[in-house]
Amino acid sequence: MSAFSAQWLELREPYDLRARNAEVLDAVFHLLAGKPSVTLVDLACGTGSTFRALSPRIGARQTWRLVDNDPSLLARVSRSPPPGINMTAVPVDLNRDLEAAFDTAADLITTSALLDLVSGNWLNRLAIAAAARRWPVYAALSYDGRAELAPADPTDRRIVDAVNRHQRTDKGFGPALGPSAAQTAIEAFGRVGYAVSHGLADWEFGPTDREIQTEVLSGWAAAAREIGDLPPREIVEWLERRRGLIAAGRSSLRVGHVDLLARPTGRR
Ligand SMILES: C[S@@+](CC[C@H](N)C(=O)[O-])C[C@H]1O[C@@H](n2cnc3c(N)ncnc32)[C@H](O)[C@@H]1O
Repeated sequence: MSAFSAQWLELREPYDLRARNAEVLDAVFHLLAGKPSVTLVDLACGTGSTFRALSPRIGARQTWRLVDNDPSLLARVSRSPPPGINMTAVPVDLNRDLEAAFDTAADLITTSALLDLVSGNWLNRLAIAAAARRWPVYAALSYDGRAELAPADPTDRRIVDAVNRHQRTDKGFGPALGPSAAQTAIEAFGRVGYAVSHGLADWEFGPTDREIQTEVLSGWAAAAREIGDLPPREIVEWLERRRGLIAAGRSSLRVGHVDLLARPTGRR
């Protein structure tokens, strides 16, 4: 499964939903409460995970602009949203033309699993574009570099270090922020006069979550292979041991993520 494939996004969605930070979510709903209608722009929407996470809990009439550069993912965005919800899939390359996603009035910008892919420059562009319009931004599920594997294996640390180096390679937006994305976002929105609330949103996979553990750890092995710090044989043997634990129902995995809500304060 590739990093942005519909299959992978479908597999991770229930875990993302469970991981989303409840206090940050409450702050999002509080922000929108009392409005008769709201417009939300979801950046790098994939197949609409954030739309599905938020829309059932928003009481107002909703208009969603779901933005992504992958037509095959946009094609999976629901064409028949529930009554009271208006939805448009918008193809935009957010690296080339972020501002095209902002050519409408909006009450909230949302995104999930995006900020760790982008560069510091792009994040500043996002903060400046949002601040120019005084739009709040909810950014969920940014990977923060923490990983706990149980039971522990002597090679885990070196694999996770390699993954964290790989996370900083270019994912289409210039050198990626990777594990520093959330902290960088908190600072970038602070500089444009936003107040930022944030909280942990970790994936927690238990012994029965075999498929997602297998996918995540296989992806980590591939990332470590690309980085090239560890001998390939060591990576293969590590993955074999970890797969053995998964098959035996003995493996657990926690992967650190951060959610944040950035709100304009009018102070700079
Ligand atoms: C990890 S996925 C997250 C998708 C979705 N937000 C979710 O949480 O399921 C990252 C998304 O970023 C999109 N993406 C990557 N580069 C992009 C770009 N330059 N412009 C717009 N979208 C992009 C991918 O197509 C993919 O849908």
